[in-house]
Amino acid sequence: MMRRSLLFKLFLLSFLLSSLVSLYLATGAGASAGTILFTTLGRSRYGFDIFASAISPSYDDAELVVDAGESQLTDGISVNFNGFFPYSPSSLLSLLHPASSPAIGSASLDALIYVTERGGRSSIYLDLFPTSSSNSSNRRSNLEVPTRLQFPLLLLPSTTGGGHPSVSMKDRPSVSGDRLIFVSTHEPSFSPRQSWAAVYSTHLPTGATTRLTPEGIADFSPAVSPSGKWTAVASYGELGWSGEVRDLKTGIYVFKTGDGSARTLVVEHGGWPCWANDSTFFFHRESSDGWWSVYRATIAADGDTPSLTSIDRITPPGFHAFTPAATAAAPGLIAVATRRASSQFRHIEIINLRDGGNTYVEITRPIAPNYHHYNPFFSPDAGRIGYHRCRGGRNGSPPLLLENIKSPSPETFSLFRIDGSFPSFSPDGRRIAYVNLPGLYVVNSDGSNPRRVYGGNAFPTAWDWKRKGVIYTSHGLGFAEVSTEVDIISITLNGEEEDDDDTTEPSIKKLTSGGQNNAFPSPSPDGKWVVFRSGRSGYKNLYVMDAVEGESARIFQLTDGPWTDTMCNWSPDGEWIAFASDRDDPGGGSFSIYMVHPNGTGLRRVVQSGDGGRMNHPWFSPDSKRLVLTSDYAGVSAEPISNPHHYQPYGEIFTVKIDGSEIRRLTHNSFEDGTPTWSPVFLNPSDVGESLQGVAYCRFDDCHWLSLQRNELDGKSC
Ligand SMILES: *[C@@H]1O[C@H](CO)[C@@H](O)[C@H](O)[C@H]1NC(C)=O
Ligand SMILES: *[C@@H]1O[C@H](CO)[C@@H](O)[C@H](O)[C@H]1NC(C)=O
Ligand SMILES: *[C@@H]1O[C@H](CO)[C@@H](O)[C@H](O)[C@H]1NC(C)=O
Repeated sequence: MMRRSLLFKLFLLSFLLSSLVSLYLATGAGASAGTILFTTLGRSRYGFDIFASAISPSYDDAELVVDAGESQLTDGISVNFNGFFPYSPSSLLSLLHPASSPAIGSASLDALIYVTERGGRSSIYLDLFPTSSSNSSNRRSNLEVPTRLQFPLLLLPSTTGGGHPSVSMKDRPSVSGDRLIFVSTHEPSFSPRQSWAAVYSTHLPTGATTRLTPEGIADFSPAVSPSGKWTAVASYGELGWSGEVRDLKTGIYVFKTGDGSARTLVVEHGGWPCWANDSTFFFHRESSDGWWSVYRATIAADGDTPSLTSIDRITPPGFHAFTPAATAAAPGLIAVATRRASSQFRHIEIINLRDGGNTYVEITRPIAPNYHHYNPFFSPDAGRIGYHRCRGGRNGSPPLLLENIKSPSPETFSLFRIDGSFPSFSPDGRRIAYVNLPGLYVVNSDGSNPRRVYGGNAFPTAWDWKRKGVIYTSHGLGFAEVSTEVDIISITLNGEEEDDDDTTEPSIKKLTSGGQNNAFPSPSPDGKWVVFRSGRSGYKNLYVMDAVEGESARIFQLTDGPWTDTMCNWSPDGEWIAFASDRDDPGGGSFSIYMVHPNGTGLRRVVQSGDGGRMNHPWFSPDSKRLVLTSDYAGVSAEPISNPHHYQPYGEIFTVKIDGSEIRRLTHNSFEDGTPTWSPVFLNPSDVGESLQGVAYCRFDDCHWLSLQRNELDGKSC
């Protein structure tokens, strides 16, 4: 009885809280216009949820016993990852809602803190459910308990204007005493290629938040010591990011959790620290023999400044081990994720270091052999091991075609992630063309009538402004050499004039024929011309040709030089062509945004992401005054090894005025965002479901560089 009424009160509270949140968001919307649509590599199919497996019975045994089965702890909405079991759910609740504390003693609650991306933003949630141990047959089905309570743990204020509700809280959060310690990207770094990720501490009863990371520095993967006194982080310190996308080569810094003071570099090369006790932490690094391994560091931290006593390697060569977790409740046990030759998947194991031994107990491979499992964590009593993985086709929401992301400027545009790449809107905003290899698709903007209109290896897409139902693309391999066979085609959808039920096959017309890497077509607003990049001179430069008949009718060269000009976009007012170019350092891998008039005059650099930086995929705003683009301008936001594979985990979406001023960040995540497009038509800021049949769940890869390297190393050791 008691429990029910408490839970009911809490439910009311959480309901009130969420109504406040939606009210806050609604007031931001004024006269809205325009939609920005972008891609995040693989993210639409992650389906991450947090699961836990029980481990038992006695830690004195040399051998751990893993209970069969696992339970899904999070609710299957959006993606949920990087969990933390708080030490005392009831005291946490009394911190948040003191009014309900008298009743709490009688309620037996289980709790989980985690990062979620529901509602188009990144936030940290607390879920509470009646403890399952009172009825052991319930143990595997927390989802069936009808009284799950859910609270967003904090709403950060905007520091960049416009309500800025979209920040990344990517790394594992933790609670220490009455404080939540977490990573967020809500404060800009003010210099290009410097990550915005920093560690913050929020006083839960009041919501007062302080920054623990010094200004101008980025910190990842924080871990609080069992006493709460110390926090360890992975950080470059003053050096900043060098463009690294595998092992970030961070150092481990330790500082006082209370105020960030006594900040000291303790380990030169390491990431993902986790504490066993206040004088021992574990971490990972890529060893000099090429294997990712777990290491132990002991520190002397009695005084005011922590200092390193010893480092030793725990996991041997022969397999990769990373993202360790330790707990004071079970000295000598470490949970890790591994990649071994015996599986194509990333799995969670426990290393038992007791009695000087070094034995490994598989947790997830016997349960879910064909899933990647990420970032393990222990329950406070060490009776459970949590991790996240794709939920598969069960117990959760299916992939979305268009996922609404909270716009930092809702009065100017709505923001969506599409499950595909290279999207573009038809001029009337009623259709979206996009690529989902192999093939080019067209779907109505409300998600209905998805259809494949071209079966080849096509990229990107752009609609003609005048002729209805005409889409330009190129056929061939992307990211390829100058000599690669790629040609531009136009696809004419038939039946566009009448209704959606076009059953006739689209007609295809080849506009170039030489195959000299002719790609990235973008039509002029008068419908007469198409600008594109071509490798026909031996370098990739820009050319303009006849939109209807192609190069055989009319063609001229727009840019010329021994470098790469690519990814061009014609402004809606017809005045400019924006493109990405490496002409500042040809072949150096760095790209800046340039603009030129269609008659070849007025060439100038618009914006650059610092020395060696990358800015790509420019697309004009409907009023031709801004560009939306992809850039590494905000560095990386989390250790890449804690995520699925991304070629360019620094990719985020930005807008900039065409004079190069007012760079604004639109997306905050640790994934690879790219290929944005901008339509004058405003799409309502709500999710659009996937209506394509047979869309696969869990379609993503583990870090390519990890498995490739493993094979190479295996070869060498034979
Ligand atoms: C435990 O839960 C199961 C399933 O919800 C239920 O059928 C059973 O009666 C419960 N047992 C006890 C002792 O409450
Ligand atoms: C801390 O943990 C390490 C590893 O589990 C152990 O060897 C050491 O004795 C512990 N130290 C203290 C002070 O408990
Ligand atoms: C080139 O085009 C720009 C923009 O339309 C125009 O202002 C300029 O006068 C043109 N220059 C020449 C030489 O035609």
